[in-house]
Amino acid sequence: MPELPMQVADQEIRGPVTIYEVGPRDGLQNESALVPVEVKEELVRRLLAAGLPIVEATSFVHPRWVPQLADAEELVARLGDLGRACPVLVPNERGLDRALELGCRHVAIFGSATETFAQKNLNRSMDEQFAMFEPVVRRARDAGVDVRAYVSMCFGDPWEGAVLIDQVVSVGRRLFDLGASQLSLGDTIGVATAGHVGSLVDAFAEAGMPRGDLALHFHDTYGQALSNVQAGLRAGVTTYDASAGGLGGCPYAKSATGNLATEDLVWFLTGLGLEHGVDLTALVETSTWLAGHLGRPSPSAVVRAMSG
Ligand code: HMG
Ligand code: MG
Repeated sequence: MPELPMQVADQEIRGPVTIYEVGPRDGLQNESALVPVEVKEELVRRLLAAGLPIVEATSFVHPRWVPQLADAEELVARLGDLGRACPVLVPNERGLDRALELGCRHVAIFGSATETFAQKNLNRSMDEQFAMFEPVVRRARDAGVDVRAYVSMCFGDPWEGAVLIDQVVSVGRRLFDLGASQLSLGDTIGVATAGHVGSLVDAFAEAGMPRGDLALHFHDTYGQALSNVQAGLRAGVTTYDASAGGLGGCPYAKSATGNLATEDLVWFLTGLGLEHGVDLTALVETSTWLAGHLGRPSPSAVVRAMSG
């Protein structure tokens, strides 16, 4: 198995970095063949055992919208205390009720920076999405549950094209100000480039958002995800979403491909001498095992290099 030859720090970057693993949710939600719940359970357990500090397990969305995650209740119940500590996506009060009933301690709402994607992903207008999320965040917080907010289409939208930075900041702040503890900026279709990342993070900071409350969520469609992480690190963001093996996409976003692979991110961070706490060998073994279940190899360059 190849090993990293040398670690060389970048003086403009400081760690430690938190990796927020989204494979079981963002990774699997796009798979058309149903993955058995036992495989999902083992996946979450293996990712946690590999040292990933946060593993987003599933979504309490409408099962007709995302059939792959229709087993959300069963998965969380099978995982027990581990499952209750994993964040889950909830779009509305019905989703929150389902999560609260199981005792989930972390939920995530997911808004859109564009009108078209709000309609396609949530069946709501941009304004209506806030009315849907407001009682979710209020009730979650009253129950002592932590809320993460995602904003999608931050760097470009397949239907609307360019998305203005001011528009992303305005939607993101509104979502965060509902009472979230973190705002994840999503490059849902993987079109971001490094300069754009730095400018967007700076714009949030100028609007009063602490850089430490931001996370970045890259998809790797154009192969720019790691360069974007570097730009994010230089701009002071220390939480990065990634998906084991580079699985993923969004069933409601035309041209969304895989997320940044967690293995690629771990290799990159290790090379910079940044702490992340993840056992790369265990992670590669997990993605190779999952690829066997899905019937195709992982698209991650690091998984391919290390499992060859
Ligand atoms: P809707 O059809 O407008 O729902 O869908 P509704 O509020 O009109 O309710 C219709 C029926 O659905 C009702 O049942 C509700 O009870 C039921 P009826 O009274 O007719 O029997 N219902 C539910 N059942 C179970 N769980 C629920 C739920 N909600 C309503 N939560 C809705 C609106 C938001 C539900 C729908 O649009 C939806 O589920 N969307 C989710 C789409 C999704 O999961 N997309 C992928 C995740 S986002 C993403 O991947 C991007 C991200 O990774 C970041 C990035 O990359 O940028 C996060
Ligand atoms: Mg995503």
